[in-house]
Amino acid sequence: MYDFKPADGQDVAERYRELLNAADALTADEPDAVANMANVAALMWEFLPDLNWAGFYRVAPAKVSPALELVLGPFVGRPACIRIPMGTGVCGTAASSGATQLVEDVHAFPGHIACDAASQSELVVPVLRDGQVVAVIDLDSPHPARFTQADATGIEALAALLSTRI
Ligand code: SME
Repeated sequence: MYDFKPADGQDVAERYRELLNAADALTADEPDAVANMANVAALMWEFLPDLNWAGFYRVAPAKVSPALELVLGPFVGRPACIRIPMGTGVCGTAASSGATQLVEDVHAFPGHIACDAASQSELVVPVLRDGQVVAVIDLDSPHPARFTQADATGIEALAALLSTRI
């Protein structure tokens, strides 16, 4: 049994340090990408308050063409849209630009894809390997402006850790 739990009363940076340590411990010796994404989705859900979705989309071949698109990966939350074209929505924008998307109000984001009507704010961070986006980490919250720059910094550190582990 693994028992990774956040301690009470931490500030945001400390919480991300603990999340990173737990993610490092769980993924360091495991080569299976799905297992690692599944455990990290569970850790994000465990460590980060006020989320309604936490997980991964992977860059993968589209169903009917050699083009790439985002395909749903391991997550915690309600069932979500399975395929997202590059450049579409918050996730597709993060994947095509390679840049973190910190969205205070998803309804104001052009092309936002509503997988769960409860979502109000969102943070999407690309995972890069050898300079290429291979996946994105997606966090949704039912609260407007839930995510801050400290969250973006924390999830970017997690994405860097996972670069060669997913
Ligand atoms: N809202 C995302 C879609 C994924 S779900 O939030 C899980 C987007 O606009 O890309």
